[in-house]
Amino acid sequence: MAQLWGGRFTKETDKLVYNFNASISYDKRFYRQDIEGSAAHVRMLAKQGILTEQEAEDIDRALQEILADVESGRLEITEEYEDIHSFVEANLIERLGDTGKKLHTGRSRNDQVALDMRLYTRGCLVETDARLKELLTVLLRLMKEHTKTIMPGFTHLQKAQPITLAHHMGAYFEMFKRDRMRLHDIYERMNYCPLGSGALAGTTYPLDREYTAELMHFYGPTANSMDGVSDRDYLIEFLAALSIIMMHLSRFSEEIIIWNSNEYRFVEIDDAYSTGSSIMPQKKNPDIAELVRGKTGRVYGALLSLLTAMKGLPLAYNKDMQEDKELSFDAMDTVGDCITLFTGMLDTIVFHKEAMRKSANNGFTNATDAADYLVKHGVPFRDAHGIIGQIVLKCIEKNIAIDDMSIEELKSFSPVFEEDVFDAISMETCVNTRCTVGAPSEQAMEQEIAAAEAYLKEQAT
Ligand code: ARG
Repeated sequence: MAQLWGGRFTKETDKLVYNFNASISYDKRFYRQDIEGSAAHVRMLAKQGILTEQEAEDIDRALQEILADVESGRLEITEEYEDIHSFVEANLIERLGDTGKKLHTGRSRNDQVALDMRLYTRGCLVETDARLKELLTVLLRLMKEHTKTIMPGFTHLQKAQPITLAHHMGAYFEMFKRDRMRLHDIYERMNYCPLGSGALAGTTYPLDREYTAELMHFYGPTANSMDGVSDRDYLIEFLAALSIIMMHLSRFSEEIIIWNSNEYRFVEIDDAYSTGSSIMPQKKNPDIAELVRGKTGRVYGALLSLLTAMKGLPLAYNKDMQEDKELSFDAMDTVGDCITLFTGMLDTIVFHKEAMRKSANNGFTNATDAADYLVKHGVPFRDAHGIIGQIVLKCIEKNIAIDDMSIEELKSFSPVFEEDVFDAISMETCVNTRCTVGAPSEQAMEQEIAAAEAYLKEQAT
């Protein structure tokens, strides 16, 4: 057991207590951030004359060596240390002797862990944003390719009105674009450095907090040292944003699962992204989509768990806050994998345009347009609604679409029907006469696509 404390203790820590308290098994993942923070801290200590230039140089060099040794596998982070901070400091002292013991001057593990977690989360946020951008790029390609691919749009999972695949993909483009905007907002609020907050009340050393903040690319230091060590809002916000991303991915997954079902056959998932059954040879299952849908629960779990852990905590640091890590890391890993796998699946999926079109044709998705046709010819809307309802009933009886009726048959329901009705209720007309902003017509979609393209280009810089 390598501990950073013990002077005031007369007994060894109970083994079970030690294990219960230790966090090395999971905080070892931010060894890089811990070393980065320590290196910035010593540079600042030297600049302020708290350490000599030579001491800071020696410590910095040894820190970089520890980093290189861990990365190359020469130095293993083992559980004989309580946490990653102890591991780094113990190794530093082993290499430098007394000079190594000066690293922790003017610092507490409370501001140290607050910094490490913030740096790690910031990195993960930037990476999540990049993954979302890949997904948006695939969505934009599908939008461009499918402005003429007609499919049924649904409400209550019942066929409602015809739309295009481009329009459907465009809805998800907006959702994931908002997710990125949420991440940007969080970044703006969280990018302040807690280092220098000390245990809770700052320190008596003349630290230059602006300088360390700048070294680690923060906008500046956090304003209040008690808040600096005990704030995990940014992590809760990030978990909330990750939860919303998963909610979006889960809805999309559900649609892919439905579209991939035997009844719909709108899509064919690439072999590389599907799995078979051990007993049923005919099976090709949409496991990736199902897993993404399923994993949404554990990400929500992380959010709820941290909200609950933080609830009722008095200021400032409490050990409860160590519980911010395991589930957050799990959520970050899960969402990263889900976005990337989902993107790969979507990028390789084959859309069966004919099946989609047929489904739109056979679902009375043009009933609203047929009613509108009557309205345009002077029939009050409520009457038109009733007439088309009767026609639909007849069609169901005969197992045909409205367009399959002869003009004579249609006239028996209302004399205002003429030959031009067939053109007026064709799938193309239904889609392309919906040309208000945000609607599915080709013309409106071209504008939506241009805006999406401009957004992605702008984000490239
Ligand atoms: N492992 C601790 C955590 O994750 C580090 C901070 C420990 N501070 C303390 N006063 N025990 O929160």
